[in-house]
Amino acid sequence: MKNTLKTCLVAVCSIAINFASAQNTFKTDQSLLQTINQNFKDADVQYKLMKESLKPGQFPKTFNPKTGVLETSGSDWWCSGFYPGTLLNIYKETKDTVLLSEAKRMLGLLSNEQYNKNTHDLGFMMYCSFGTAEKIAPDAKYKQILINSAKSLSTRFNPKVGCIKSWDSKKPEFLVIIDNMMNLELLFWATKVTGDSSYYKIAVTHANTTMKNHFRPDYSSYHVINYDPQTGAVIQKRTAQGYANESAWARGQTWGLYGYTLMYRETHDKKYLEQAEHIAHFILHNPNLPKDKVPYWDFNAPNIPDALRDASAGAVMASALLELCKYSDAKSGREYFNVAQTLIKSLSDSPYKAANGTNGGYLLAHSVGNIPGGTEIDQPLTYADYYFVEAMMRYQSFAKN
Ligand code: GLY
Repeated sequence: MKNTLKTCLVAVCSIAINFASAQNTFKTDQSLLQTINQNFKDADVQYKLMKESLKPGQFPKTFNPKTGVLETSGSDWWCSGFYPGTLLNIYKETKDTVLLSEAKRMLGLLSNEQYNKNTHDLGFMMYCSFGTAEKIAPDAKYKQILINSAKSLSTRFNPKVGCIKSWDSKKPEFLVIIDNMMNLELLFWATKVTGDSSYYKIAVTHANTTMKNHFRPDYSSYHVINYDPQTGAVIQKRTAQGYANESAWARGQTWGLYGYTLMYRETHDKKYLEQAEHIAHFILHNPNLPKDKVPYWDFNAPNIPDALRDASAGAVMASALLELCKYSDAKSGREYFNVAQTLIKSLSDSPYKAANGTNGGYLLAHSVGNIPGGTEIDQPLTYADYYFVEAMMRYQSFAKN
């Protein structure tokens, strides 16, 4: 009895000490919290501006500062979920029902994509939108759309390769990109809601295969792995959006960081936490990571320090680090939190944060979509705003605890 009491006391004390040290480790900056409050007010203004420029049936894609044109897409573009997702998250902060109505209108346009089996991006498209809606205001209709989306995404899984196919190809090849790690969250959600473990198993198998083949010894990652669809053998490791096959394309590194952090959250398997920490180490200790922590578009871009920065990679990185810091030991956690804090400060300021009434209504300027493809270069991007908003919400949550 005496011993049991002692054990209980020790447990309670250690929880209290851990809680206190977590509070210490992640001390929020009051002036940054005020900046974030202002950013949400600005976001409300900006997203109403964007809403006014959108043609019926169209989704925002980017804004060309030279022509002043808001470039748009249909619902089948991989980025279609970010606009409604961002509207919903801004609404969560500002309670501006204009944004909620606009988000609902866009969800209506997006719902057809639940049956789209031609893309691996259904996680981005449907989970960032309907998944966010489901968290804010659970709805049976949204739930069914998400389940159907997970089913569609699962059809792209090849058990021989152990991956979900990213890009379709007419050649006998099976292309998987590191970005695909981001689509797994939808599958975990589907298993939790339906009780069908097949989604979970696909996600875990995909993450394990990716861990084996996508990473170099220094934990930087290739963008594209080309597998033989019959045998699962690796045919080629290369880039598509990076500077070179052997370079470290910045956003790809941050997709991997975010992806393995979410793998740990969903499975509690330590190997994913270690993978995320190794990726974080590659990024954070890279001699080419600038002081303000907003990465160049590729860690090996030839013209550093004159290379373009990619605000979208910075936003994804900030959000991922604000989750990873909670799972790591105190020293690493503090490092991740501090870098995320610096990133949010940098992105909240010039030249990244756009002045109200400019930038086509986007919050952030200066992202890089695809330099080799010649598209969306040094322009705003929907996903830069989405992950910036998510990072700011995650930062605020440390002050609320
Ligand atoms: N392919 C998705 C991206 O540009 O990050």
